[in-house]
Amino acid sequence: MKRAILLSLCALLIVLSLGCQHGSRSIKRLDPAIEAQIDSLLARMTLEEKAGQMSQKSRLGEDGSGDIETEIREGRIGSFLNLQDVKARNKLQRIAVEESRLGIPLIFGLDVIHGQRTVFPVPLGEAASWDLDLMEKTAAVSAREARAMGIDWTFSPMVDIARDPRWGRIVEGAGEDPYLGSLIARAKVRGYQGRDLAAPDTIAACLKHYAVYGASQAGRDYHTTEVPMRIVRDVYLPPFQAGVEEGAATLMSGFNDLNGIPTSGHSFLLTDVLRGQWGFDGFVVSDWRSVKQMIPHGFAEDQAHAAALGASAGVDMEMVSRTYLDHLPDLVRRRVVLRQVLDTAVRRILHVKYRLGLFDNPYVNENLQEAVLLAPAHRDLARQAVRESLVLLKNQNNLLPLSRDLKSVALIGPLAQARRDLIGTWAPAAEDGDVVTLLDGLKKALGETCRVHYAKGCQTEGDSTDGFAEALEAAGRSELIILAVGESESHNGEAHSRTELGLPGPQLQLVREIHKIGKPVVMVLFAGRPLTINWEMEHIPAILLAWHPGIEGGNGIADVLLGDYNPAGKITVTFPRSVGQIPIYYNEKNTGRPIREEDRFTSKYIDSPNTPLLPFGYGLSYTTFEYGNLKVETPNVEIPGTVKVSADITNTGGRAGHEVVQLYVRDLVGSVTRPVKELKGFERIYLEPGQTKTVRFEIPTDALRFWDINMEFNVEPGDFHIWIGPHSAEGLQGHFRLTN
Ligand code: NOJ
Repeated sequence: MKRAILLSLCALLIVLSLGCQHGSRSIKRLDPAIEAQIDSLLARMTLEEKAGQMSQKSRLGEDGSGDIETEIREGRIGSFLNLQDVKARNKLQRIAVEESRLGIPLIFGLDVIHGQRTVFPVPLGEAASWDLDLMEKTAAVSAREARAMGIDWTFSPMVDIARDPRWGRIVEGAGEDPYLGSLIARAKVRGYQGRDLAAPDTIAACLKHYAVYGASQAGRDYHTTEVPMRIVRDVYLPPFQAGVEEGAATLMSGFNDLNGIPTSGHSFLLTDVLRGQWGFDGFVVSDWRSVKQMIPHGFAEDQAHAAALGASAGVDMEMVSRTYLDHLPDLVRRRVVLRQVLDTAVRRILHVKYRLGLFDNPYVNENLQEAVLLAPAHRDLARQAVRESLVLLKNQNNLLPLSRDLKSVALIGPLAQARRDLIGTWAPAAEDGDVVTLLDGLKKALGETCRVHYAKGCQTEGDSTDGFAEALEAAGRSELIILAVGESESHNGEAHSRTELGLPGPQLQLVREIHKIGKPVVMVLFAGRPLTINWEMEHIPAILLAWHPGIEGGNGIADVLLGDYNPAGKITVTFPRSVGQIPIYYNEKNTGRPIREEDRFTSKYIDSPNTPLLPFGYGLSYTTFEYGNLKVETPNVEIPGTVKVSADITNTGGRAGHEVVQLYVRDLVGSVTRPVKELKGFERIYLEPGQTKTVRFEIPTDALRFWDINMEFNVEPGDFHIWIGPHSAEGLQGHFRLTN
């Protein structure tokens, strides 16, 4: 009985704190007493112990020569990753705190990317909600659950801008836009870290992968990146800077070489920009063996050289490989690496350990998990996140939402009953049994009066069509068909780049066969990236993009299919018509020969339109919205100043719903060429049928800065176009002028 009361009290506290924890940004500054303790520790540490603090070991024991417990005791490990067993964690922590010479606690990291036990939609899906408050809340829940499992630190958010959907890791980020990506980076940092990093339900965030990893050539993971510094600054760095400003405690250096310099040995990025220009005061961890990988990059001769390059460039902690541990002490003795490099790195690491409260409370309560993991409020939030992340790509003749009068529905496809594929990549604590499948969710939502005929049809891989007959039979017996097709969990994510972006395996063939029957078909598309779904967009009357929605996937999708929730998601990455169009992104340059159909010698293809299949920002609703009455209140603005503009949005359909109103600008002439459009504002509004809202934006001229001809970050006077609209390819257009 007592236990039940305790559990419900815990649940209540969770619900209450969900509501009030957000909206903060500051992290406690360390007081002089703590700084003095760090000074005293540094004064007593040997070079080996310093290198130990700078070394992170994986639970899996990679690259480890020694016995883990002995290594901790001897101060040769500062951190672990991938250890999720809270008891084992406390045991190792006890050795560090009670049996090592200086008693410095370990810090435990994990890839908590889109939830811990409660798994939310993959980041690219969640970004489609454009709901920053939601994204902060899901991060806060992830933090609470992770902390209960003994995790102090997540390797998230991934804030890499990606313009190439072949790259499997596009699923882990917020898409292609630096402005939206920056706001999402901030929301995630706030969510994970809360007001106080030492609180028992917050964890340290890690901005990754610094930098420009998302521009891997040809979309091939870990490949070279060659990007002009101006584009690096304008497009790829803003989300990192935003995350730093929001107080992120750590940052991860990348695998890639950028313009010839591996990013884990890039002192300009890691020291001049990150520390010098942005004032980052947390610590930098390398990616998995990325310091050592400077050898195959052809940048370091051997491990000692790699250690010297990594540490001197500003990588404070080395993940998994042991070049620091094995070589830094000697490199300092030989004066190849400055002693101060180690002292600074260790100070930064100890800072974060203090901020997390690890010196005062090194152990995690081993009995928290039952009340915290999968708490009802967490599952509710997960369902909400699914609903908001779904994007209605097509809805011919308002086929959706489904009629409640249906007596029979066929649910066909390899993802209809899938569990792991709904979870998606990077969910180390996820359990398949927690997943509500689409079949389960749909059956529950449709109730007793409607029969659901399920058939798998085919796999997501291979070419077997053996299951088609059963699928066609199920379709034949039903009034309407729902297809559950797309990418499986292993079609995207790290080391899962693709050169073809159609439905994998025999799925398109299955879709075509079902379509031939001539009955109404709804396609629920699971994916972690844009897919080239041209045939499907042309022939299938209704398509709902569901991403990898997480454990509440089945419920959230059913909510939308049945109209209990009106979808409002909008894609944050451009969907190409073909792989040949890649890279394709909305904020491209105009060129000197912008496309003109009648002129062959303009920038275009002979076998494809320039336009994408679906533009950035696109997504439909069960209702319709009309944009009108654009007012540029400030046609002339002196720099510095504020551009003020508004438009009226009316719900002209029959259902209430949300609309993500987007604002874009174009700087018509610059000292360097400027993008044809740039997102500079958005608002997610809710409108009842017939209701009109005036949405007003105020854009400070500072938000129009870019890296100019002199590589200075400036706003330039001149003429601008401005649009308010439903996505990047449509909107009401106005004009303003900036003067000095
Ligand atoms: C390699 C990945 O690139 C990175 O994102 C991740 O955080 C680390 N492995 C740790 O798992």
